[in-house]
Amino acid sequence: MKILVTGGLGFIGSHTTVELQNKGYEVVIIDDLSNSTEKVLDGIVAITGKKPVFEKLDLKEKSKVEDFFKRHQDIAGVIHFAASKAVGESVEKPLLYYENNIGTLVYLLKELSKKQRSSFIFSSSCTVYGQADKMPITEDAPVKAAESPYGNTKQIGEEIIQETCKVTPGINAIALRYFNPMGAHPSAEIGELPIGVPQNLVPFITQTGAGIREQISVFGGDYPTEDGTCIRDYIHVVDLAKAHVVALERLLNAKNEENYEVFNVGTGKGSSVLEAIQSFERVSGKKLNYKIVGRRPGDIMTAYADTTKANEVLGWKAESTLDEAMKSAWLWEQKIRK
Ligand code: WQD
Repeated sequence: MKILVTGGLGFIGSHTTVELQNKGYEVVIIDDLSNSTEKVLDGIVAITGKKPVFEKLDLKEKSKVEDFFKRHQDIAGVIHFAASKAVGESVEKPLLYYENNIGTLVYLLKELSKKQRSSFIFSSSCTVYGQADKMPITEDAPVKAAESPYGNTKQIGEEIIQETCKVTPGINAIALRYFNPMGAHPSAEIGELPIGVPQNLVPFITQTGAGIREQISVFGGDYPTEDGTCIRDYIHVVDLAKAHVVALERLLNAKNEENYEVFNVGTGKGSSVLEAIQSFERVSGKKLNYKIVGRRPGDIMTAYADTTKANEVLGWKAESTLDEAMKSAWLWEQKIRK
């Protein structure tokens, strides 16, 4: 079966491509290379021995999307990662985010609407919950007003899919609300490409450990949490990738109860920033140079998933511990600095 992975040369997309190939699927990748490189294909081949079909294509170009689906009529499912995802950048360039994250989704759904039956996995985010009132966070926690255009594009994206599915029974969709993806494939052949100064915690930790960054700032030590720092649910990217394959197969095998479903994808465990730093120190044997500074505007204090629905309905559970994920991130950092 042929599966389209948009953004398949990105961090989560490349890991999901590997897991799809491991399950015997033929993968076609569309990527515009705005935040990745074609070299990632070599990493995928190094792991699975199979080279996915790759088409450099900008999904914002409607005619190109139509032409792609004419040439690939046998696409059985789509996993849609392609989107801009930097929270801070989205505040500075909202129109870039609405055009890229919403426009492309509409063009993809228009193509799927032409099919008898299609399976569609959407990359969403726990960002849609904002600061949830209750921990752990369940899928029926209220969606709160987005704190950034990035977060808003995820909320709008989910609404567009839900409304489309209501009137297009042929489209079967699942939105996966990721918590905090981290780490790299254990082979260290693929991982999070370091482009620019990392915004996310874990690449900043490993770059500080590798001596590329002088020191890491811990944004806020005065939150009303156990150690004063923010809490997140850090999930190994390979566990997250596997969740995509399980969700896709739920749709391909018509096991879904509704034609639009939502699942939280996390470990169900919260870890503070300091605990993440301590995890790095344990797995690397290196002391990390960090400084507690002021809070980062827009940050929520605590978010970790209630994973009951994914465990019981999807039949998926994260397997890696924080230390195992951090170890894989560190191995990747060392590999790319060789
Ligand atoms: C985690 C914690 C920071 C860097 C965002 C998006 C989410 C997803 C992942 C795209 C926070 C603290 C960070 C640093 C720090 N993005 N931190 N020093 O903000 O939870 O989630 O990225 O899919 O949708 O919202 O992730 O890694 O930026 O921050 O103290 O140098 O680490 O304050 O508490 P976040 P993050």
